[in-house]
Amino acid sequence: MQPEESAKPLGARRSGPLKGTIRPPGDKSISHRALMLGALAIGQTTVEGLLEGEDVLSTAAAMRAFGATVTRTGPGAWQIAGVGVGGLLEPEGVIDFGNAGTGARLTMGIAGSHNFATTFTGDASLVKRPMGRVFDPLRRMGVQIVARSGDRLPATIKGPEGLVPIEFRLTVPSAQVKSCVLLAALNCRGITTVIEPVPTRDHTERMLSAFGAAIETETLPDGARVIRVEGGLPLKPQAIVVPSDPSSAAFTMVAALLVDGSDVTIENVLLNPTRTGLIDTLVEMGGDIAIVNKRSVGGEDVGDIRVKASRLKGIAVPKARAPSMIDEYPVLAVAASFAEGTTVMDGVGELRVKESDRVATVLAGLRANGVTAEDGPETLTVHGGARVAGGGTVATHLDHRIAMSFLVMGLASENPVTVDDGRPIATSHPEFRALMTKLGADIADGP
Ligand code: S3P
Repeated sequence: MQPEESAKPLGARRSGPLKGTIRPPGDKSISHRALMLGALAIGQTTVEGLLEGEDVLSTAAAMRAFGATVTRTGPGAWQIAGVGVGGLLEPEGVIDFGNAGTGARLTMGIAGSHNFATTFTGDASLVKRPMGRVFDPLRRMGVQIVARSGDRLPATIKGPEGLVPIEFRLTVPSAQVKSCVLLAALNCRGITTVIEPVPTRDHTERMLSAFGAAIETETLPDGARVIRVEGGLPLKPQAIVVPSDPSSAAFTMVAALLVDGSDVTIENVLLNPTRTGLIDTLVEMGGDIAIVNKRSVGGEDVGDIRVKASRLKGIAVPKARAPSMIDEYPVLAVAASFAEGTTVMDGVGELRVKESDRVATVLAGLRANGVTAEDGPETLTVHGGARVAGGGTVATHLDHRIAMSFLVMGLASENPVTVDDGRPIATSHPEFRALMTKLGADIADGP
């Protein structure tokens, strides 16, 4: 997205039943990692089903800037000729990650394990987000970092001659932080240990093991996970098939539950248990959701999800579920607006440091559309009802998930809902509008 372009409002209005079958684009988390590990392996990695959203394209550009050859061979089909662990070249320019927190934070781990300086920046959203969470462990490993105050981007990162292996216990449940350290550890002699008290998405661990890294994971009796990586060893190129992103499927799932008479099948969705919290929650709320055709693709659970319109009821969503649905709270808040009774989401503090302060943007969006809701330090509470007035305009603050969530609201509310800028949707789900329209959703330009 070019900052100088002006915002493009989008509006959604009450739609007839959503019907049909769609296949959302590839998982964003897996797509980023496929490009990165491909760049670190020696030889040719192939990827099928890569998400071609702006965030992932930023990672592709970054890997090229570090010397990897990254080529698109067809829709979603990519090849990466890697340079080997420790073999990156010093980029000539600044690495601009746009809106992509995952791309930036994981790549900082890789760059920090090389003895040259790399400068990172991003868009107006990314430069506000906290980077201290990855800078702290990198500094302990010996990386020099100069950043804007409050450890924000732009920042310049320079690795030492040899990184020091550390034992690092996560203080925030964040797969990005875990992955940053694990990726740095690849080029660090000795064993680096990451302990996560609350398990988060494990795509980095799974993919590292597929690429032949020396990685082991142990689950302690209290549920904490200990991950050990021995660095200094080569990675072997892989053929990766990326399943559809459950965090993109989430918008269609909720839309199909809310729009009367809907019956939609979403194909090929990643069902890794660290990502399926929203499905569990919507089923508890009374959603008619069936998972069919369960299979394993490239070491990940995958299935098709059939969703039928349902009357939902409010529930208490437990704190422990937050890591497995961290990106899904905005659209859950929309589902909760149409549910009978109150939904309390606990453990949502991390939402405040996403692409926008999602507690604040969701609250403002709900209130603009006549829904009563309130927040606490760690909670978001929505008082739902069968009807939602709608009619409001929602400020998206460069946040793709806010834009898509409130367009979903407009498909079932009494009056249309407008989002002030639909452009951020292209960061993660460039096919959102086309796929939703194919199912029968009424989404149009302008208010
Ligand atoms: C991601 C981890 C999550 C998630 C983000 C993708 C990843 O962030 O919100 O969209 O691919 O590792 P945190 O690790 O900061 O919770």
